[in-house]
Amino acid sequence: MATLITGGAGFIGSHLANRLASGADSVIVLDNFDAYYDPRLKRANVAAFDPSILVVEGDVRDELLIERLFRQHEITRVAHLAAMSGVRNSVQEGRLYADVNTSGSVTLMDAARRHNVQMFVQASTSSVYGNANQIPFQESYPSDYPLAPYPASKRAVEMFAHSYHHLFGLNITVLRFFNVYGPKGRPDMMPLKAIDAILHDKPITLYDGGDLKRDWTYVDDTVQGVIAALDRPMGFRIINLGYGAPASLLEFMQIYENLIGKKAIIRSEPAPLTEPRITYCDNTLARTLLGFDPQVTLAQGLAHTWNWYRSEYGIDLR
Ligand SMILES: NC(=O)c1ccc[n+]([C@@H]2O[C@H](COP(=O)([O-])OP(=O)(O)OC[C@H]3O[C@@H](n4cnc5c(N)ncnc54)[C@H](O)[C@@H]3O)[C@@H](O)[C@H]2O)c1
Repeated sequence: MATLITGGAGFIGSHLANRLASGADSVIVLDNFDAYYDPRLKRANVAAFDPSILVVEGDVRDELLIERLFRQHEITRVAHLAAMSGVRNSVQEGRLYADVNTSGSVTLMDAARRHNVQMFVQASTSSVYGNANQIPFQESYPSDYPLAPYPASKRAVEMFAHSYHHLFGLNITVLRFFNVYGPKGRPDMMPLKAIDAILHDKPITLYDGGDLKRDWTYVDDTVQGVIAALDRPMGFRIINLGYGAPASLLEFMQIYENLIGKKAIIRSEPAPLTEPRITYCDNTLARTLLGFDPQVTLAQGLAHTWNWYRSEYGIDLR
């Protein structure tokens, strides 16, 4: 039996693949090494994999390839993480995000239901809550007013997921991730951009003077939640997966300044229309249904990230 991880060469997917490699099921990673950020980082993730992991280079929109994968391997579980990420990048690329994130996910769900997959985990995002006016976000809060094509494409997938469960009985758990960060993180996201800016004395832009708040979730905690979801078929569920303690971007930068021992050069810009004021996870459902119990505080997680960065890039500050 095998677990298929799409997007497994990427940030969260590669952490998940490494964690699952020691389990009873074999692990297959499908990724097209997309160029949204430097594909060499994804190749390096894959090069460091446990040799038992099978890596297939290909696109989730490729129906023939997907069909072949399901025929050749006894895939019983799918963690579907492949996506075009990046809220701001999606602004000019609506069609691409609809194609990869929505259509690609439906291609995979369709194969999964035809091949009697036992469990399908679909990665979604806290961005579906848009500018929700109640905090912390509960799964029942309105999520139909996304601020950009990226969350719109993910919200559409959530609805397809329900229809595939309803019609075909596919077990699907949709996980709404909240601002995931950690070692080998995405270079387009603040946790690595901030280190780079502070180290190299480059100005860094914070929206609204760093006032916006984000609920940062350490990657090991997220992966623990994904594995728990893979292990527990529950019909159809949408579940928030986040730490549950938002911090302002200014507080976030101060933690890094203390770790690195240098001040950041901060520029303020008005927040663009794509940015909600806050993301704040109510993770009660994840705690109840998945035994989710996030362990890593923001200060600890940024320290792990900084330590990883130092050893990865040979930074010696003495
Ligand atoms: N990192 C976060 O904070 C965060 C927050 C919310 C949701 N998510 C979701 O979690 C998932 C993983 O995110 P990540 O941060 O690891 O991003 P990532 O970009 O590092 O990983 C996504 C992977 O999908 C691959 N991919 C893209 N298009 C593909 C296609 N057509 N076919 C096959 N593979 C393709 C990419 O090459 C990449 O390796 C995504 O679905 C993302 O939307 C992430």
